[in-house]
Amino acid sequence: MDKPLFLQACAGLPTERVPLWIMRQAGRYLPAYREVRAKHDFLAMCRTPELAAEVTLQPVREFGFDAAIIFSDILLPLAPMGIDVQFVEGEGPRLAPQVRSRKDVEDLKDAGFDPATCFLGKALKIVRGELGADKALIGFAGAPWTMCCYAVEGKGSRDYAAVKTMMNSEPETLHALLDKITTVLVSWLRMQLESGADAFQVFDSWADALSPADYREFALPYLRRIFEELRPTGKPAILFSRDAGAFADENVRLPIDVLAVDWRVDLAALRRRHAGSGPRAYQGNLDPMTLLGDRRILLEKAGRLLAENVETPGYIFNLGHGITPPTPVENVRALVDFVHAFRSGK
Ligand code: CP3
Repeated sequence: MDKPLFLQACAGLPTERVPLWIMRQAGRYLPAYREVRAKHDFLAMCRTPELAAEVTLQPVREFGFDAAIIFSDILLPLAPMGIDVQFVEGEGPRLAPQVRSRKDVEDLKDAGFDPATCFLGKALKIVRGELGADKALIGFAGAPWTMCCYAVEGKGSRDYAAVKTMMNSEPETLHALLDKITTVLVSWLRMQLESGADAFQVFDSWADALSPADYREFALPYLRRIFEELRPTGKPAILFSRDAGAFADENVRLPIDVLAVDWRVDLAALRRRHAGSGPRAYQGNLDPMTLLGDRRILLEKAGRLLAENVETPGYIFNLGHGITPPTPVENVRALVDFVHAFRSGK
């Protein structure tokens, strides 16, 4: 049997149709997810392999996505480093203690992850066993810079005052933290690849907070380290950088297989600009809000994106960021059916 379409596209090969999955596809827009979530706390779901596996598989069964992304969260590998992670209903993540000094960084543990014992490794094994051979399984982690934002701020942030104060007063402390977190993230991702993940995506959700010079100093080198260290696994690497517009032309030079961009980027133009030199494939980038509107306009916009991208091999359809809880399930179904039926006009 041929490789899953998703992996063929990651390799830049022509595919009989465009593969798709959706960021945050296992989540609150889905009634089956809400049913499980009503009975269990979010972190308990992440840490119980059978529950994590079940909600990972739900959207694949329901809509026929070409890939499953394992149900987990980017913040989880911070816990064994000594940072307590909680999710407060209606408020989002809360982390303690916040990392604010060189001593705080030195006190963090060098956590390592064993595929045989880690809850996430067990969840991946269950999913890989149940997923059809035509579907791919995606593991993930947060990018070092994004993880540092949470570790230093202790929660989401509007202005990044604490992490930027560290950057602009003790840059070597931030570098030490980035370095330590990067080592942990490599272990976290390697464990996932050894447990059955066919590919991995790194989410740099807060890249847009950085100036180009700061991006080059505090984000890029650590991303590069992750991708270089995991290159020998041979598993496709995807980088999703939110608000990647400013940095896309630098990200294409990383040793990645797929660059995923948000909806602010003209994806087809980006691909043309880097034809022959950048990553073999691209992923994206419909505005998730399109799913809240009229179905005719949704399919029109999806059709335009497909038409602009389908002629060049190495294209994976996705949203430009995560699907949101108020999304009507019937719009998701209409979108998936439309993408699956779409063929090149040639
Ligand atoms: O894509 C998927 O379906 C896989 C699962 C996944 C989750 N989080 C589950 C989740 C993935 C890939 C993530 C990544 C993640 N988590 C990111 C990077 C991607 C992005 O969105 O930019 C970030 C920044 C986080 C941190 C995080 N997790 C926040 C800020 C929140 C709170 C948001 C909120 O709306 O409450 C979470 C919680 C979270 N992670 C939920 C899910 C399904 C909601 C939990 C619930 O059911 O209450």
